[in-house]
Amino acid sequence: MDKIHSLTGMLDLYNDGDRDNLSPKIFEAEKVLRRIFSNYQLNEMRTPALEDTDLFKRSVGDLSDIVNKEIYSFNDRNDKSIALRPEGTAGVIRAIIEKKLDQSAHKIWYLGPMWRYERPQKGRYRQFYQAGVEILGYPEGAPEFEIISIICSIIEEFNLKNCSIKINHLGSKTDKESFCEALVNYLEPHKDNLDIKDLERLSRNPLRILDSKNEDTQFILRDAPSIKDFIDSSSIQMLQDIRSQFSNICSIEIDYSLVRGLDYYSGFVFEAVSSDLGAQNSFLGGGRYDHLCSNLGGRDLPSIGMAIGIERFASLLDTVIPSNRMTSFLVVTSNLEPKAYKIAHQLRSLNKNIILDLQLSEASLKAKLRRANKNEADYAIIIGDEELKTDTVIFKYLKDENKNQETFSIDELFRFYKSI
Ligand code: HAM
Repeated sequence: MDKIHSLTGMLDLYNDGDRDNLSPKIFEAEKVLRRIFSNYQLNEMRTPALEDTDLFKRSVGDLSDIVNKEIYSFNDRNDKSIALRPEGTAGVIRAIIEKKLDQSAHKIWYLGPMWRYERPQKGRYRQFYQAGVEILGYPEGAPEFEIISIICSIIEEFNLKNCSIKINHLGSKTDKESFCEALVNYLEPHKDNLDIKDLERLSRNPLRILDSKNEDTQFILRDAPSIKDFIDSSSIQMLQDIRSQFSNICSIEIDYSLVRGLDYYSGFVFEAVSSDLGAQNSFLGGGRYDHLCSNLGGRDLPSIGMAIGIERFASLLDTVIPSNRMTSFLVVTSNLEPKAYKIAHQLRSLNKNIILDLQLSEASLKAKLRRANKNEADYAIIIGDEELKTDTVIFKYLKDENKNQETFSIDELFRFYKSI
Protein backbone atom coordinates (compact mmCIF):
# COMPACT_ATOMS: atom_id res chain seq x y z
CA MET A 1 0.00 0.00 0.00
CA ASP A 2 1.20 3.53 -0.76
CA LYS A 3 2.03 5.55 2.32
CA ILE A 4 0.34 8.88 2.93
CA HIS A 5 2.72 11.75 3.65
CA SER A 6 2.28 14.96 5.63
CA LEU A 7 1.69 18.12 3.61
CA THR A 8 4.73 20.19 2.61
CA GLY A 9 5.83 22.61 5.31
CA MET A 10 3.82 20.97 8.09
CA LEU A 11 5.59 19.30 11.00
CA ASP A 12 4.60 16.40 13.23
CA LEU A 13 5.71 17.31 16.74
CA TYR A 14 6.76 14.35 18.83
CA ASN A 15 9.74 13.79 21.05
CA ASP A 16 11.39 10.74 19.48
CA GLY A 17 14.55 11.14 21.57
CA ASP A 18 16.62 12.46 18.64
CA ARG A 19 19.03 15.19 19.80
CA ASP A 20 18.14 17.51 16.91
CA ASN A 21 14.42 17.13 17.41
CA LEU A 22 12.77 20.50 17.98
CA SER A 23 9.63 19.07 19.63
CA PRO A 24 10.79 18.85 23.29
CA LYS A 25 12.06 22.43 23.06
CA ILE A 26 8.74 23.55 21.61
CA PHE A 27 6.77 21.80 24.35
CA GLU A 28 8.96 23.17 27.13
CA ALA A 29 8.91 26.69 25.62
CA GLU A 30 5.11 26.61 25.55
CA LYS A 31 4.97 25.54 29.21
CA VAL A 32 7.28 28.33 30.36
CA LEU A 33 5.55 30.95 28.17
CA ARG A 34 2.19 30.02 29.73
CA ARG A 35 3.69 30.64 33.18
CA ILE A 36 5.20 33.99 32.17
CA PHE A 37 1.86 35.11 30.68
CA SER A 38 0.04 34.25 33.88
CA ASN A 39 2.67 36.15 35.92
CA TYR A 40 1.65 39.22 33.91
CA GLN A 41 -2.02 38.56 34.77
CA LEU A 42 -2.99 37.88 31.15
CA ASN A 43 -6.11 35.81 30.39
CA GLU A 44 -6.10 32.97 27.91
CA MET A 45 -8.32 33.15 24.81
CA ARG A 46 -8.88 30.45 22.18
CA THR A 47 -10.50 31.38 18.92
CA PRO A 48 -11.37 29.04 16.03
CA ALA A 49 -8.73 28.10 13.47
CA LEU A 50 -11.26 28.79 10.69
CA GLU A 51 -12.74 32.25 10.17
CA ASP A 52 -14.64 34.17 7.51
CA THR A 53 -12.03 35.10 4.85
CA ASP A 54 -13.27 38.71 4.97
CA LEU A 55 -11.97 39.01 8.55
CA PHE A 56 -8.39 38.76 7.30
CA LYS A 57 -9.01 40.89 4.21
CA ARG A 58 -10.29 43.70 6.43
CA SER A 59 -7.63 43.41 9.14
CA VAL A 60 -4.31 42.10 7.83
CA GLY A 61 -5.24 43.80 4.50
CA ASP A 62 -6.12 42.34 1.12
CA LEU A 63 -3.04 43.93 -0.45
CA SER A 64 -0.66 42.36 2.07
CA ASP A 65 1.35 39.29 1.03
CA ILE A 66 -0.25 37.31 3.86
CA VAL A 67 -3.76 37.69 2.45
CA ASN A 68 -2.98 38.18 -1.22
CA LYS A 69 -0.56 35.29 -1.71
CA GLU A 70 -0.38 33.13 1.39
CA ILE A 71 -3.85 32.60 2.78
CA TYR A 72 -5.37 29.11 2.85
CA SER A 73 -8.93 29.93 1.87
CA PHE A 74 -11.63 27.86 0.23
CA ASN A 75 -15.38 27.67 -0.09
CA ASP A 76 -17.23 25.46 2.38
CA ARG A 77 -20.17 23.23 1.45
CA ASN A 78 -22.42 26.27 1.60
CA ASP A 79 -20.20 28.21 -0.80
CA LYS A 80 -19.00 30.58 1.90
CA SER A 81 -15.36 31.66 1.69
CA ILE A 82 -13.56 30.61 4.85
CA ALA A 83 -9.84 30.73 5.75
CA LEU A 84 -7.41 29.01 8.07
CA ARG A 85 -6.16 31.86 10.24
CA PRO A 86 -2.75 33.21 9.14
CA GLU A 87 -2.35 35.05 12.48
CA GLY A 88 -4.15 35.44 15.81
CA THR A 89 -4.91 39.14 16.35
CA ALA A 90 -7.85 39.45 13.94
CA GLY A 91 -9.71 36.52 15.56
CA VAL A 92 -9.19 37.94 19.06
CA ILE A 93 -10.66 41.32 18.05
CA ARG A 94 -13.55 39.65 16.19
CA ALA A 95 -14.36 37.65 19.33
CA ILE A 96 -14.15 40.72 21.60
CA ILE A 97 -16.55 42.65 19.34
CA GLU A 98 -18.94 39.71 19.08
CA LYS A 99 -19.02 39.24 22.86
CA LYS A 100 -19.67 43.01 23.26
CA LEU A 101 -16.52 43.30 25.34
CA ASP A 102 -15.09 46.11 23.22
CA GLN A 103 -16.07 48.81 25.72
CA SER A 104 -13.57 47.64 28.34
CA ALA A 105 -9.87 46.83 28.69
CA HIS A 106 -8.48 43.29 28.39
CA LYS A 107 -5.09 41.62 28.67
CA ILE A 108 -5.11 38.42 26.63
CA TRP A 109 -2.73 35.63 25.59
CA TYR A 110 -3.21 32.79 23.13
CA LEU A 111 -1.28 29.90 21.66
CA GLY A 112 -2.12 27.88 18.60
CA PRO A 113 -1.36 26.90 15.01
CA MET A 114 -1.45 29.41 12.14
CA TRP A 115 -1.26 28.71 8.41
CA ARG A 116 0.45 30.59 5.59
CA TYR A 117 1.07 29.19 2.12
CA GLU A 118 4.72 30.27 1.99
CA ARG A 119 7.69 28.64 0.27
CA PRO A 120 8.97 26.36 3.04
CA GLN A 121 12.58 26.76 4.14
CA LYS A 122 14.51 26.67 7.42
CA GLY A 123 12.36 28.47 10.00
CA ARG A 124 9.48 28.96 7.56
CA TYR A 125 6.58 26.55 7.58
CA ARG A 126 3.06 26.38 6.19
CA GLN A 127 1.70 25.40 9.59
CA PHE A 128 3.47 27.00 12.54
CA TYR A 129 2.60 27.92 16.11
CA GLN A 130 2.32 31.37 17.59
CA ALA A 131 2.08 32.44 21.23
CA GLY A 132 0.60 35.91 21.29
CA VAL A 133 -0.31 38.69 23.69
CA GLU A 134 -2.92 41.41 23.05
CA ILE A 135 -3.38 44.34 25.44
CA LEU A 136 -6.69 45.98 24.53
CA GLY A 137 -8.27 49.25 25.61
CA TYR A 138 -5.24 51.31 26.63
CA PRO A 139 -3.85 54.24 24.60
CA GLU A 140 -0.16 54.65 23.79
CA GLY A 141 2.10 54.87 26.83
CA ALA A 142 2.26 52.26 29.61
CA PRO A 143 1.26 49.28 27.39
CA GLU A 144 4.29 49.89 25.14
CA PHE A 145 6.55 49.50 28.19
CA GLU A 146 4.55 46.50 29.45
CA ILE A 147 4.81 44.63 26.14
CA ILE A 148 8.57 45.23 25.90
CA SER A 149 8.84 44.14 29.55
CA ILE A 150 7.08 40.84 28.67
CA ILE A 151 9.49 40.30 25.76
CA CYS A 152 12.50 41.06 27.97
CA SER A 153 11.21 38.63 30.63
CA ILE A 154 10.98 35.93 27.96
CA ILE A 155 14.49 36.68 26.69
CA GLU A 156 15.84 36.62 30.29
CA GLU A 157 13.96 33.50 31.35
CA PHE A 158 15.28 31.51 28.36
CA ASN A 159 18.69 33.14 28.58
CA LEU A 160 18.65 34.00 24.86
CA LYS A 161 21.90 35.32 23.46
CA ASN A 162 22.64 37.14 20.19
CA CYS A 163 19.22 38.72 19.90
CA SER A 164 17.95 42.25 19.74
CA ILE A 165 14.64 44.07 19.61
CA LYS A 166 14.17 46.54 16.77
CA ILE A 167 11.65 49.28 17.47
CA ASN A 168 10.07 52.01 15.35
CA HIS A 169 7.09 54.36 15.32
CA LEU A 170 4.85 54.63 12.25
CA GLY A 171 3.15 57.80 13.55
CA SER A 172 -0.55 58.50 13.26
CA LYS A 173 -2.67 57.33 10.32
CA THR A 174 -2.06 60.64 8.52
CA ASP A 175 1.70 60.62 9.31
CA LYS A 176 1.88 57.13 7.80
CA GLU A 177 -0.03 58.27 4.70
CA SER A 178 2.15 61.37 4.21
CA PHE A 179 5.30 59.29 4.58
CA CYS A 180 3.98 56.75 2.08
CA GLU A 181 3.27 59.52 -0.44
CA ALA A 182 6.76 61.00 -0.01
CA LEU A 183 8.33 57.55 -0.43
CA VAL A 184 6.39 56.89 -3.66
CA ASN A 185 7.37 60.33 -5.03
CA TYR A 186 11.00 59.61 -4.23
CA LEU A 187 10.96 56.13 -5.80
CA GLU A 188 9.03 56.96 -9.01
CA PRO A 189 12.14 58.31 -10.86
CA HIS A 190 14.06 55.14 -9.80
CA LYS A 191 11.41 52.77 -11.16
CA ASP A 192 13.66 51.41 -13.92
CA ASN A 193 16.12 50.15 -11.33
CA LEU A 194 13.58 48.24 -9.22
CA ASP A 195 12.99 44.51 -9.65
CA ILE A 196 9.51 43.10 -10.39
CA LYS A 197 8.81 42.34 -6.73
CA ASP A 198 9.66 45.89 -5.60
CA LEU A 199 7.73 47.44 -8.51
CA GLU A 200 4.71 45.45 -7.42
CA ARG A 201 5.20 46.66 -3.84
CA LEU A 202 5.51 50.24 -5.09
CA SER A 203 2.08 50.09 -6.66
CA ARG A 204 0.33 48.02 -4.00
CA ASN A 205 2.00 48.48 -0.63
CA PRO A 206 4.91 50.98 -0.91
CA LEU A 207 6.04 50.79 2.75
CA ARG A 208 7.04 47.17 2.22
CA ILE A 209 9.80 48.30 -0.15
CA LEU A 210 11.75 49.23 2.96
CA ASP A 211 11.95 45.47 3.70
CA SER A 212 13.41 44.68 0.26
CA LYS A 213 16.29 42.20 0.25
CA ASN A 214 17.49 43.55 -3.13
CA GLU A 215 20.84 45.33 -2.68
CA ASP A 216 20.17 47.81 -5.53
CA THR A 217 16.88 48.79 -3.93
CA GLN A 218 18.57 49.18 -0.55
CA PHE A 219 21.17 51.42 -2.22
CA ILE A 220 18.41 53.61 -3.72
CA LEU A 221 16.69 53.74 -0.33
CA ARG A 222 19.77 55.24 1.34
CA ASP A 223 18.61 58.75 0.36
CA ALA A 224 14.89 58.08 0.65
CA PRO A 225 12.73 60.07 3.09
CA SER A 226 12.69 58.63 6.62
CA ILE A 227 9.61 58.10 8.82
CA LYS A 228 11.60 59.97 11.48
CA ASP A 229 10.80 63.24 9.65
CA PHE A 230 7.06 62.58 9.63
CA ILE A 231 6.39 61.64 13.27
CA ASP A 232 6.13 63.80 16.43
CA SER A 233 9.08 64.41 18.68
CA SER A 234 7.08 62.72 21.50
CA SER A 235 7.08 59.46 19.50
CA ILE A 236 10.85 59.67 19.03
CA GLN A 237 11.17 60.40 22.75
CA MET A 238 9.15 57.28 23.58
CA LEU A 239 11.43 55.11 21.42
CA GLN A 240 14.45 56.54 23.22
CA ASP A 241 12.86 56.01 26.66
CA ILE A 242 12.03 52.38 25.87
CA ARG A 243 15.58 51.81 24.69
CA SER A 244 17.11 53.35 27.79
CA GLN A 245 14.79 51.51 30.25
CA PHE A 246 15.35 48.01 28.89
CA SER A 247 18.71 47.99 27.14
CA ASN A 248 20.48 46.51 30.19
CA ILE A 249 18.36 43.35 29.68
CA CYS A 250 18.35 43.06 25.89
CA SER A 251 19.87 45.05 23.06
CA ILE A 252 17.23 47.48 21.75
CA GLU A 253 17.77 49.25 18.43
CA ILE A 254 15.71 52.09 16.98
CA ASP A 255 15.25 51.16 13.31
CA TYR A 256 13.36 53.78 11.29
CA SER A 257 13.12 51.41 8.32
CA LEU A 258 11.14 48.79 10.27
CA VAL A 259 7.69 48.39 8.75
CA ARG A 260 5.48 45.38 9.39
CA GLY A 261 3.78 43.17 6.83
CA LEU A 262 0.28 43.59 8.25
CA ASP A 263 -1.88 46.62 7.43
CA TYR A 264 -3.45 47.17 10.83
CA TYR A 265 -0.44 48.77 12.52
CA SER A 266 -0.15 52.43 13.44
CA GLY A 267 2.23 53.92 16.00
CA PHE A 268 4.75 51.77 17.86
CA VAL A 269 6.02 48.62 16.05
CA PHE A 270 8.77 46.12 16.87
CA GLU A 271 10.43 42.84 15.91
CA ALA A 272 12.87 40.63 17.82
CA VAL A 273 15.63 39.15 15.68
CA SER A 274 18.47 36.73 16.32
CA SER A 275 21.71 36.37 14.42
CA ASP A 276 21.52 32.61 15.15
CA LEU A 277 18.47 32.16 12.91
CA GLY A 278 19.69 32.63 9.33
CA ALA A 279 17.45 34.21 6.66
CA GLN A 280 14.21 34.00 8.68
CA ASN A 281 15.73 35.90 11.58
CA SER A 282 12.66 37.38 13.20
CA PHE A 283 11.22 35.22 15.99
CA LEU A 284 8.70 37.72 17.30
CA GLY A 285 6.83 40.75 16.03
CA GLY A 286 4.06 43.12 16.91
CA GLY A 287 2.91 46.66 17.43
CA ARG A 288 0.03 49.03 18.09
CA TYR A 289 -3.20 48.73 16.13
CA ASP A 290 -5.58 51.40 17.42
CA HIS A 291 -8.05 51.29 14.50
CA LEU A 292 -8.52 47.57 13.98
CA CYS A 293 -11.49 47.18 16.31
CA SER A 294 -13.45 50.06 14.75
CA ASN A 295 -12.49 48.89 11.24
CA LEU A 296 -14.08 45.53 12.06
CA GLY A 297 -17.33 47.15 13.21
CA GLY A 298 -16.53 47.54 16.92
CA ARG A 299 -15.86 50.58 19.10
CA ASP A 300 -12.61 52.51 19.22
CA LEU A 301 -10.34 50.22 21.18
CA PRO A 302 -6.69 51.33 21.26
CA SER A 303 -4.60 48.17 21.38
CA ILE A 304 -1.12 46.72 21.14
CA GLY A 305 0.13 43.14 20.82
CA MET A 306 2.83 40.74 19.77
CA ALA A 307 3.29 37.16 18.63
CA ILE A 308 6.19 34.76 18.97
CA GLY A 309 6.87 32.18 16.25
CA ILE A 310 7.28 29.12 18.44
CA GLU A 311 9.35 26.97 16.03
CA ARG A 312 11.87 29.76 15.40
CA PHE A 313 11.96 30.62 19.09
CA ALA A 314 12.47 26.98 20.15
CA SER A 315 15.32 26.57 17.67
CA LEU A 316 17.20 29.26 19.63
CA LEU A 317 17.10 27.27 22.86
CA ASP A 318 20.29 25.35 23.61
CA THR A 319 18.93 22.64 25.80
CA VAL A 320 15.53 21.73 27.08
CA ILE A 321 15.15 23.36 30.46
CA PRO A 322 14.17 20.42 32.64
CA SER A 323 10.97 20.94 34.55
CA ASN A 324 11.72 20.46 38.24
CA ARG A 325 8.97 17.98 38.96
CA MET A 326 10.03 14.73 40.54
CA THR A 327 9.70 11.44 38.74
CA SER A 328 9.16 8.08 40.28
CA PHE A 329 8.82 4.76 38.62
CA LEU A 330 6.54 1.89 39.47
CA VAL A 331 8.07 -1.41 38.54
CA VAL A 332 6.00 -4.55 38.71
CA THR A 333 8.30 -7.52 38.53
CA SER A 334 6.00 -10.42 38.00
CA ASN A 335 2.78 -10.73 36.02
CA LEU A 336 1.14 -7.40 35.45
CA GLU A 337 -0.92 -7.59 38.63
CA PRO A 338 -4.21 -5.67 38.90
CA LYS A 339 -3.40 -4.86 42.53
CA ALA A 340 -0.30 -2.96 41.47
CA TYR A 341 -2.38 -0.77 39.13
CA LYS A 342 -4.62 0.14 42.02
CA ILE A 343 -1.57 1.17 44.08
CA ALA A 344 -0.35 3.29 41.16
CA HIS A 345 -3.75 4.94 40.84
CA GLN A 346 -3.83 5.76 44.58
CA LEU A 347 -0.28 7.15 44.50
CA ARG A 348 -1.14 9.41 41.56
CA SER A 349 -4.11 10.90 43.37
CA LEU A 350 -2.12 11.37 46.62
CA ASN A 351 0.50 13.67 45.11
CA LYS A 352 -0.21 15.37 41.82
CA ASN A 353 3.22 16.99 41.69
CA ILE A 354 4.96 13.72 41.03
CA ILE A 355 5.23 12.07 37.65
CA LEU A 356 4.66 8.35 38.08
CA ASP A 357 5.60 6.16 35.16
CA LEU A 358 4.20 2.66 35.30
CA GLN A 359 6.01 -0.10 33.42
CA LEU A 360 3.47 -1.43 30.96
CA SER A 361 5.38 -4.28 29.42
CA GLU A 362 7.00 -7.36 30.86
CA ALA A 363 10.80 -7.10 30.97
CA SER A 364 13.54 -8.04 33.39
CA LEU A 365 13.90 -6.05 36.61
CA LYS A 366 17.29 -4.89 35.34
CA ALA A 367 15.81 -3.56 32.08
CA LYS A 368 13.05 -1.78 33.96
CA LEU A 369 15.50 -0.10 36.31
CA ARG A 370 17.63 0.94 33.34
CA ARG A 371 14.62 2.68 31.90
CA ALA A 372 13.94 4.35 35.24
CA ASN A 373 17.48 5.76 35.23
CA LYS A 374 17.11 6.93 31.63
CA ASN A 375 13.95 8.78 32.62
CA GLU A 376 15.91 10.47 35.42
CA ALA A 377 13.58 8.93 37.97
CA ASP A 378 14.28 9.72 41.63
CA TYR A 379 12.74 6.52 42.98
CA ALA A 380 11.69 3.10 41.85
CA ILE A 381 8.88 1.29 43.59
CA ILE A 382 9.26 -2.42 43.06
CA ILE A 383 6.36 -4.76 43.58
CA GLY A 384 7.14 -8.42 43.10
CA ASP A 385 5.23 -11.60 44.00
CA GLU A 386 6.55 -11.59 47.57
CA GLU A 387 5.56 -7.95 48.13
CA LEU A 388 2.09 -8.54 46.71
CA LYS A 389 1.57 -11.32 49.23
CA THR A 390 2.76 -9.27 52.22
CA ASP A 391 1.30 -5.88 51.21
CA THR A 392 4.72 -4.30 51.01
CA VAL A 393 6.89 -2.65 48.34
CA ILE A 394 10.60 -2.22 47.83
CA PHE A 395 11.37 1.47 47.71
CA LYS A 396 14.61 2.12 45.84
CA TYR A 397 16.40 5.49 45.96
CA LEU A 398 17.93 6.09 42.54
CA LYS A 399 19.56 9.45 43.13
CA ASP A 400 20.52 9.36 46.81
CA GLU A 401 24.10 8.16 47.29
CA ASN A 402 23.56 7.48 51.01
CA LYS A 403 20.46 5.35 50.64
CA ASN A 404 19.89 2.24 48.60
CA GLN A 405 16.53 0.67 49.23
CA GLU A 406 14.09 -0.24 52.00
CA THR A 407 10.90 -2.18 52.42
CA PHE A 408 7.77 -0.11 53.05
CA SER A 409 4.32 -1.26 54.01
CA ILE A 410 1.70 0.09 51.60
CA ASP A 411 0.59 2.58 54.28
CA GLU A 412 4.15 3.77 54.81
CA LEU A 413 4.53 4.17 51.05
CA PHE A 414 1.37 6.27 50.86
CA ARG A 415 2.51 8.46 53.79
CA PHE A 416 5.97 9.00 52.29
CA TYR A 417 4.59 9.69 48.83
CA LYS A 418 2.21 12.29 50.20
CA SER A 419 5.00 14.03 52.11
CA ILE A 420 7.37 14.56 49.14
P1 HAM B 1 4.00 38.31 12.24
O1 HAM B 1 5.25 39.12 12.29
O2 HAM B 1 3.37 38.10 10.92
O3 HAM B 1 2.99 39.02 13.24
O4 HAM B 1 4.28 36.90 12.90
C1 HAM B 1 4.85 36.77 14.18
C2 HAM B 1 5.91 35.70 14.18
O5 HAM B 1 5.39 34.48 13.68
C3 HAM B 1 7.11 36.00 13.28
O6 HAM B 1 8.03 36.83 13.93
C4 HAM B 1 7.68 34.60 13.06
O7 HAM B 1 8.53 34.23 14.15
C5 HAM B 1 6.45 33.72 13.09
N1 HAM B 1 6.09 33.31 11.71
C6 HAM B 1 5.44 34.02 10.78
N2 HAM B 1 5.31 33.32 9.64
C7 HAM B 1 5.92 32.12 9.85
C8 HAM B 1 6.13 30.93 9.07
N3 HAM B 1 5.67 30.81 7.82
N4 HAM B 1 6.79 29.90 9.64
C9 HAM B 1 7.26 29.98 10.90
N5 HAM B 1 7.09 31.06 11.70
C10 HAM B 1 6.43 32.12 11.18
C11 HAM B 1 1.73 38.57 13.47
O8 HAM B 1 1.31 37.50 13.12
C12 HAM B 1 0.91 39.54 14.32
N6 HAM B 1 -0.42 38.95 14.54
C13 HAM B 1 1.60 39.83 15.64
C14 HAM B 1 0.80 40.77 16.49
C15 HAM B 1 0.03 40.44 17.55
N7 HAM B 1 0.68 42.07 16.31
C16 HAM B 1 -0.14 42.57 17.21
N8 HAM B 1 -0.57 41.59 17.97
